[in-house]
Amino acid sequence: MLSWKKEMEKKLERLKTIDLKESVIILGIETSCDETSIAIVQDGHKILSNIVSSQIAIHKRFGGVVPEVASRKHVEVINVLLEEALNDAKLKLGDISAIAVTYGPGLIGSLLVGVAAAKAISFAKGIPLVGVNHIAGHIYANNLIKQLEFPLIALVVSGGHTELVYMEDHHKFEVLGMTRDDAAGEAYDKVARTLELPYPGGPYIDKLAKEGKATIELPRALMDNGYDFSFSGLKSAVINTMHNAKQRGEYIAKEDMAASFQEAVVDVLVSKTLKAVQEKQVKNLIVAGGVAANQGLRSRLKEKCEQLGIDLTIPPLELCTDNAAMIASAGYFSYLKGEWSNLELNGIAGLPLSP
Ligand code: KG4
Ligand code: ZN
Repeated sequence: MLSWKKEMEKKLERLKTIDLKESVIILGIETSCDETSIAIVQDGHKILSNIVSSQIAIHKRFGGVVPEVASRKHVEVINVLLEEALNDAKLKLGDISAIAVTYGPGLIGSLLVGVAAAKAISFAKGIPLVGVNHIAGHIYANNLIKQLEFPLIALVVSGGHTELVYMEDHHKFEVLGMTRDDAAGEAYDKVARTLELPYPGGPYIDKLAKEGKATIELPRALMDNGYDFSFSGLKSAVINTMHNAKQRGEYIAKEDMAASFQEAVVDVLVSKTLKAVQEKQVKNLIVAGGVAANQGLRSRLKEKCEQLGIDLTIPPLELCTDNAAMIASAGYFSYLKGEWSNLELNGIAGLPLSP
């Protein structure tokens, strides 16, 4: 048997002659946080299987993700998920063109489980390995819905990240702005805790917001100041307002606080995103990450984009939160470019989107 390295060199050489009609099947692995997921995607867009095992029920009682528990749970389920994903797609490991795995950013112990599994399969079966940035994965969730068209602006809003990204081509990320403190999802989760809602709080606030009125005045930070975001002042304003009201024996309806908070977040996200779209003169806007599931954000963006003639894509809810299909889609384009990883691939907790 050829050594792994020699076999990869041979496969890389063959890639240059690949017939575009030949289908490329990517096995995606995602374990960066509290979801273990394995997916199989054909040609970067067709989902053959996408199995997600969420640990939310386990972490709920702690009010947030416990890293050590998360990595142990990934270890427990990853092999079963691999089998399930292959069965669902009616494929064998021998049918897989490459393995795409999230290697950062995320919880280091969790990342290592996915990376170790991917490397083991790659080594044992001689399958090419592609390391994928988790945020790039969120962006490529959109490619599962509609082929990405460049140039585009991507608004990435997740539990750990809030970034405005300009892309001229596949895997060319120019980060225009990011959060200086809390991520949008993090602010949602912390505000939800103050309102005594379960973890993760985003979906609960979203639901409550529909029942309330945005009558409470809250700050909108850095509104006319570049593309960076800041949500920690807004989060503190909610905590202080609720706390002061409680001390004074006054009542604030949780629904109204949820609606006011959501309005402030959506105001900032939408205004900065549209500014980027207009300044960069792009026609295509995509939204990614767990907070892209937010109904308030989705409907405001839809309304504005219709008015301005911007082509808006937002993945369906199940592809907004962590899943391996998005990792496989991002990995597909790296695979085609020959940007493969070797067996030294390691998890990187703070991996940036662009160097
Ligand atoms: O992308 P994701 O699944 O994980 C990370 O990579 O961080 O995002 C999870 C975040 C959580 O903070 C959660 O509260 C938030 O997405 N989220 C929402 C909604 N659904 C999930 N935030 C606001 N509204 C929602 N409907
Ligand atoms: Zn994520």
